[in-house]
Amino acid sequence: MLAIIGGSGLSQLANLIITHREVVRTPYGEPSCPLTFGNVCGTPVVFLARHGHGHTLAPHEVNYRANIWALKHKGALAVIAVASVGSIRADLMPGDLVVPHQIIDYSWGRRSTFFEGEGCPVRHIDFTDPYDEELRQRIIGAAEVAGIPLKAGAVYACTQGPRLETAAEINRIERDGGDVVGMTGMPEALLAREQELPYAAINVVANYAAGRADSAHGISFDAILGELGAPMARVRTLLETVA
Ligand code: HPA
Repeated sequence: MLAIIGGSGLSQLANLIITHREVVRTPYGEPSCPLTFGNVCGTPVVFLARHGHGHTLAPHEVNYRANIWALKHKGALAVIAVASVGSIRADLMPGDLVVPHQIIDYSWGRRSTFFEGEGCPVRHIDFTDPYDEELRQRIIGAAEVAGIPLKAGAVYACTQGPRLETAAEINRIERDGGDVVGMTGMPEALLAREQELPYAAINVVANYAAGRADSAHGISFDAILGELGAPMARVRTLLETVA
């Protein structure tokens, strides 16, 4: 079964034939919302809206551990995470789809490991390549088959939010090697790795990052969300082809 975590602009999967919903309890608290089970083009899929129904959870409020634990323990074999991002690289434009290959984590204060607490052995997980390469290639190949333009490879920078970045922060992230910036990629990717769940992301460029191009005079996140309809329709088609 394939798990899909939907972010801003993808709180439902219109092409999911739903069989049932389930409220899952976990040792780490409550997931963002009940899991939705069904199939996409005959492939079993479980869907989870990262920010909850009605987009009520900010990126730092998401219970990433509960989400990943619930998906794993309900039978997910791989996770595709969909998330909107701001673009730092000039050739990544609003509306573009990107499959990142690396992560820099600037988030802080999030519960970011399953390996902590009394009686739990210390583990140092290998995270050299944070995304599962086979799953990345499956997505990239599906985009080719479906004729959906997609940029394969980008360094994803995860900021804390919920505020957007300053122009200087974006300059720093660029110097660090970041290509796109979002708020939810971590610790989600790491927790999936800890649960031995292959994990890859589809990033939808929603805007130019702070201080870049047409965002030089500020970014309205509501305006950003309004622009996501068409690219998210392409993401749905892409997910059908992956499934
Ligand atoms: N910064 C951080 N997260 C985002 C952005 C951004 O500009 N756009 C969409 N998610």
